[in-house]
Amino acid sequence: MTLLIQQALDHAKEVALEAGALIKKMREEGELEHQYKLKQELVTNADLAADKLIVKRIKEHYPEHRFLTEETCIDKTVGHDLSSPLWIIDPIDGTVNYAHGQAMVAVCIAFACEGDVQCGVVYNPFMEEMFWAVKGEDAKLNGQDIHVSNLNDLKRAVFATGFPYDKDSLDPILKRVDIMVRHCQDMRRLGSAALDICWVACGRLDLYFESLSPWDFAAARLIALQAGATCGHFCDVPNEIPVSIFDKNLLISTPELYEESRALLAPTV
Ligand code: IPD
Ligand code: CA
Ligand code: CA
Repeated sequence: MTLLIQQALDHAKEVALEAGALIKKMREEGELEHQYKLKQELVTNADLAADKLIVKRIKEHYPEHRFLTEETCIDKTVGHDLSSPLWIIDPIDGTVNYAHGQAMVAVCIAFACEGDVQCGVVYNPFMEEMFWAVKGEDAKLNGQDIHVSNLNDLKRAVFATGFPYDKDSLDPILKRVDIMVRHCQDMRRLGSAALDICWVACGRLDLYFESLSPWDFAAARLIALQAGATCGHFCDVPNEIPVSIFDKNLLISTPELYEESRALLAPTV
């Protein structure tokens, strides 16, 4: 690991802890205000406060770096420019859970160079679980190595997926759920894509699929990769977009389940 990546990881962990403490405190102290982006997408004042805090803290160390964040970044195509280091941030993944007093909530911070995520942190402050990984090294949960389940029988698999805020695009997603429920043991809907993916990484789930935005999965995908998962898509990836941030039709699973589930999901695109 280079010194730059080691320092970026250490800083991301520190900032994730600080942002996690902030969102926990805001909820406990009843300071939450709810709003709806694009009429249906829930966002709270804590999402915005955590986004601003994370960017401010990282800028203190890396004033020349760029940011792709869910709440405060206006140009969401900034990740297509590979010219300089980029931080990809979801201040609260699982906002609906957060606003409903539930625990499946994560602060997500990824650091990418030339379109490739180098290190990532996913921190759940309510369960006090911090997942992290550096490219080329073992993924960790609270400092312990984690690994995928290595399940090889789809009939025994527990999968997770999610549903978009926009209800107009539900039909193909429900078709996928219908297919996978029939082929797998069971399904979970945790409400945080980053935690779904980290739970595949540590073997609590065996498979995950969804279409997302880069900040939802950039950190978690690296954690899953380094934990031995196969991370891909059940559609083609356009040449101009780095594969590590292409957000459509993601499929993340144990290596043994990947091809069979991809073959089931691909015809639904
Ligand atoms: C959402 C969560 C959810 C997923 C949605 C995401 P947010 O992120 O990750 O699990 O199904 O597609 O938008 O809005 O809570 O940051
Ligand atoms: Ca998210
Ligand atoms: Ca979010």
